[in-house]
Amino acid sequence: MVKSLHKRQFGDFQTPDILATEVTQVLQVNHKISPEVVIEPSCGKGAFIRAVLDSFPDSRIIGLDINKKYLEEAKLSISNHPLSHHVTLDESDFFKINWEAILSTISGYILVIGNPPWVTNSDLSILDSQNLPPKSNFQNQRGIAAITGSGNFDISEWMLLQYVEWLSKRMGTIAVLCKYSVARKVMYQVKNKFGSRFSFHIYLIDAKLYFQASVEACLCVISTDYPDNCDCKVYQNLKSREVSYLIGERDGLIIRDTKKYEEWRHLLGHNFQYIWRSGIKHDCSKVMELERIHDNLFMNGLQEKYCLEMDYLYPLLKSSDIGKGATENCRKFVLVTQKSVGEDTSIIENVAPKTWQYLLEHDEYFKHRKSIIYKNKPAYSIFGIGSYSFKKWKIAISGLYKQLKFCLVKPLHGKSVMLDDTVNFLSFDTEEEAKFIFQLLTSTPAMEFLDSMIFWDEKRPITIDILKRLSLQAVAKELGFLKTYFYWTKTVQIPVDLQKQKVTLAKLKN
Ligand SMILES: C[S@@+](CC[C@H](N)C(=O)[O-])C[C@H]1O[C@@H](n2cnc3c(N)ncnc32)[C@H](O)[C@@H]1O
Repeated sequence: MVKSLHKRQFGDFQTPDILATEVTQVLQVNHKISPEVVIEPSCGKGAFIRAVLDSFPDSRIIGLDINKKYLEEAKLSISNHPLSHHVTLDESDFFKINWEAILSTISGYILVIGNPPWVTNSDLSILDSQNLPPKSNFQNQRGIAAITGSGNFDISEWMLLQYVEWLSKRMGTIAVLCKYSVARKVMYQVKNKFGSRFSFHIYLIDAKLYFQASVEACLCVISTDYPDNCDCKVYQNLKSREVSYLIGERDGLIIRDTKKYEEWRHLLGHNFQYIWRSGIKHDCSKVMELERIHDNLFMNGLQEKYCLEMDYLYPLLKSSDIGKGATENCRKFVLVTQKSVGEDTSIIENVAPKTWQYLLEHDEYFKHRKSIIYKNKPAYSIFGIGSYSFKKWKIAISGLYKQLKFCLVKPLHGKSVMLDDTVNFLSFDTEEEAKFIFQLLTSTPAMEFLDSMIFWDEKRPITIDILKRLSLQAVAKELGFLKTYFYWTKTVQIPVDLQKQKVTLAKLKN
């Protein structure tokens, strides 16, 4: 336990020698660098020190780490190497050392290499660890947001940004193993601050294989070489020579696959008629979500059975159902206590006394909801609710799943289906309209455009922010269905020639 706590607060995943060697080979072969000085700021047991000694025999090497034992191991491991005199290994804390003083002694091309700690500031605060950057600009939430754009960040993100500062007036390359998401965040910030001074390359790596870690990871190479290469080249692995896709900034957005995006850029727009929503938020699943035993008898997540009126119960499909496309039936029902956000709930007492009694009996569960959104709101309040929730037909997509899988959701048990707050959806009054928009959304142009913007390693890769960038009108135009689109979005008589188009559409659907 003590050991694993220690490992966690120092983000300690030692790199296997084979991976460190592959990294230095990529730098030699693909990037053709020959550094005068190599710095490994958190060198641990020295995998990168050994790899650099073999790949860059002319370089001076500086290795540092906070862990004395690791440094001893590293020293021992190179003691018989003929070039060990090129290496200086010292105990030091990255956040306390005077980097300016060290850097002022260095001239020539620098390589900063390594695998900075894999830990976030919130992990560290849970562990009550002090292994953090200086208070002045890091523990202070405003400072953090200013640096990283968010309150929670990886320590490696901060370290990488420091490395970039070192190269702001020097020539060199940074090559570090880090989370894929960290590499992207750093890229975004560096581009904002330094424009095209640095080029970016990302080589995806299998973190499960090398570190037994379930995270998308990569080798991130940031260099003052090839500075005008605006987009970041992404390779499938360290051995790939072919670029898989180019990440870049377009229209103020970070785009995963700029080539695909440019192909379908004309589909970018707004939907004024069709608004993406997310499902119901109640933060009380044990009480609010129930399984139907039979007729009006239901069982909640506390395994308690209750007879409830159907007035406030609706079929529920969760992210996992939508992700699997299991929309034909529902496993659960959800209590929908309001028709709109903030609506008075006391009316339930008269309309459905058993339901009211059930809510009263579970009052404590509602009072323990942590989110401040429930403060000063009517009892048993929910969020993500409005007239759109009660429309009969929906097109839904799970925000959590790693594929673009839209589902048509029809009413179940004679009622509109509710979706959970990790599901994004559009809603419609009629089946016909829902099917028409479904056809637009699942067309190749729409799917390729959306896919070009999605970073699949994100926890919730498919966001409303991304979905709403797709103009359904532009897709309809692309597919030649513009008139049908206007038929559904404006209350106009359907012209005769459009009747034909509807027939064609019907055929296509079958
Ligand atoms: C992910 S491990 C990688 C070690 C080594 N770079 C490698 O690739 O095998 C992170 C290393 O960072 C070191 N570390 C953590 N906090 C540090 C700090 N504040 N200053 C210097 N090193 C630190 C840990 O001791 C650990 O060896």
